[in-house]
Amino acid sequence: MKIAIDGPAGAGKSTVAKAVAQKLNLNYLDTGAMYRAAAYAMLKRGIEPSDRTAVLSALPSLSMEIVYDAGSQKVIADGEDVTPFIRTARISKGASDIAVIPEVRLKLVDLQRNAAQHYDIVMDGRDIGTYVLPDADIKFFITASPRERARRRFLELKETVPEADIDEIERDIIARDKTDSTREFAPLRQAEDAILVDTTDMNREQVIDFVSGLIAEKK
Ligand code: C5P
Repeated sequence: MKIAIDGPAGAGKSTVAKAVAQKLNLNYLDTGAMYRAAAYAMLKRGIEPSDRTAVLSALPSLSMEIVYDAGSQKVIADGEDVTPFIRTARISKGASDIAVIPEVRLKLVDLQRNAAQHYDIVMDGRDIGTYVLPDADIKFFITASPRERARRRFLELKETVPEADIDEIERDIIARDKTDSTREFAPLRQAEDAILVDTTDMNREQVIDFVSGLIAEKK
């Protein structure tokens, strides 16, 4: 079974995808982590993720591997486990910048399709239903208002980043959505056959129950 979960930044896709994968005993692939890892690896080499020429010349030597580890996922880029380092605002922006480059996407999409060939999988991202797995068994497009997405992110960050600012988070989210939905190649878009889930007024459990209920009906 192949399940596609797409949507804009901070909509809670990963939380839902992970929970659904656990509940239904499927593998889970967070494709955003792969774009984040690519941005991180480029920055480590001194390359700006938005510098298309430099990224293209480094791309053939970029290695990436996904390791499934007790229900969660690790991303190994250029031989390093980058998982703990890819959740910063700098890397979010870098991921969105590098994701515009079609050659980067093709390289990562290959790995994503390869994973889907080998496992029953829940995959979350921006272009899973429209481009990576157009034949997925079921597709969801999970969204919420930008303010609500910023509020959730703010609550997550507040403990560890006391200077977190909800307005700044909202601006970053809106900017990233714009880059993601206006790029030419495989932009963020709801697939025609995707089920729209607006989670603005739903809590985590309600979203998980709703999504896994629909998947169970399909099985
Ligand atoms: O989902 P996450 O916020 O971790 O994704 C980081 C960035 O990676 C997104 O803003 C988007 O630019 C890019 N991305 C993408 N296609 C995907 C997954 C993520 O372009 N399938």
